[in-house]
Amino acid sequence: MSAVVQNPGVRALTREELEAHWMPFTANRNFKAKPRMLSHAKGMHYWTPEGRQILDGVAGLWCVNAGHGRKEISEGVARSLEQMDFAPPFQMGHPQAFELANKIVKIAPKGMDHVFFVNSGSEAVETALKIALQYQRLRGEGSRTRLIGRERGYHGVNFGGMTVGGMVANRKIWSPTLVPGVDHLPHTHDLAKNAFSRGQPEHGENLANELERLVGLHDASNIAAVIVEPIAGSTGVLVPPKGYLKKLRELCTKHGILLIFDEVITGFGRVGSAFGAQEFDVTPDIITMAKGLTNGSVPMGAVLVKKEIFDTFMTGPEGAIEMFHGYTYSCHPTACAAGLAALDIYEREGLFQRAKDLAPYFEQAVHSLKGLPGVIDIRNYGLVAAIEYEPFAGKPGARGFDTFTRAFAAGILVRAAGDITALSPPLIIEKSHIDELVDKLGQVIRETKVP
Ligand SMILES: Cc1ncc(COP(=O)(O)O)c(C=O)c1O
Repeated sequence: MSAVVQNPGVRALTREELEAHWMPFTANRNFKAKPRMLSHAKGMHYWTPEGRQILDGVAGLWCVNAGHGRKEISEGVARSLEQMDFAPPFQMGHPQAFELANKIVKIAPKGMDHVFFVNSGSEAVETALKIALQYQRLRGEGSRTRLIGRERGYHGVNFGGMTVGGMVANRKIWSPTLVPGVDHLPHTHDLAKNAFSRGQPEHGENLANELERLVGLHDASNIAAVIVEPIAGSTGVLVPPKGYLKKLRELCTKHGILLIFDEVITGFGRVGSAFGAQEFDVTPDIITMAKGLTNGSVPMGAVLVKKEIFDTFMTGPEGAIEMFHGYTYSCHPTACAAGLAALDIYEREGLFQRAKDLAPYFEQAVHSLKGLPGVIDIRNYGLVAAIEYEPFAGKPGARGFDTFTRAFAAGILVRAAGDITALSPPLIIEKSHIDELVDKLGQVIRETKVP
């Protein structure tokens, strides 16, 4: 799987050649002064243009669940591109879109059986929120327009997702133009009570009751939906406390509020089941997904809804468009081919079960970092984990970034989320890779120079 790939001889770019590309979520000047380039990938590894091998500890960006360079995907994509480069998705169809929707429904929680295709996690979130609002209106509850997110949630970068999200850096510049009528539940991260939890933390179920407070404030008749990630990923792997998601489900049901799980990270085996919904035994009304849907190979996202929601939309005149929403590239044939091939691999190789089987070994390995200088918490679930550090005085985030850059120099790709290192390796990872990842990260942590 991870046989060494020949370096294709990518030449180094000059500083001038690096200029035109405005890089996303990147310290552009810092990067361009000292670039971290990747040139090719196979199995569990990336290679740099100089030929340095990098062990992928984050599945690219929480998405390459079946590992890199999967021939089944590239061949499927090539075939599809040659057969039909594009098909208009509005008022027209192509078989692969229907096939992929059926395949997703097969692994979805029971009763969730209709899929709307988009091109990213951010678009999945916008689409889910719009579906929630229209659904409430269609069932005669048009006053339900408020949306509830959660502090430290990440739901992408478009206006709806940014607003229901709870990351201050992503919101503050655009604060005056955030979507009106949005509240936030408190986050569930409680270092004082739950530090070094293995799996779901003991404390915090009661935080779901904050929804009652918001219902008391606004009245349920004004609230359309609650959106949460089953495990908050981008803000540093916040695992839901025991009982929390079930309580949230109960309260949403009691008050006629839709529950949306944003499973852009937790979908496709990351937590040991197809979706967090099954793993935590809580069925939401809507699920958003992206990333692992195509193994990260071609941009694609999707929104999965319960039958009742879909049926509510299918009630107007038969010739009328039921929802005025969609993208030019919704269910693009290339993305569908990638999705079909990725889902085939997950199934054939039993990768969701593999994540579950490896989780105890992964847990043991990451928790072996407890006691290293500056480590104030380690948490994990399935094949996702986080190591949290004491921040450098007066420089929040600097320690996490320093750890990330030195880890890359040491030959491992990890993810910095503030002063937290997140790990979410491809599900094909071997125990020896886990050992290497944790050994190297441990060494990097030991060598930290506190300013
Ligand atoms: C939970 C969640 N939702 C939405 C997104 C946004 O996805 P994208 O970057 O594909 O727009 C992400 C991305 O990391 C995510 O983790």
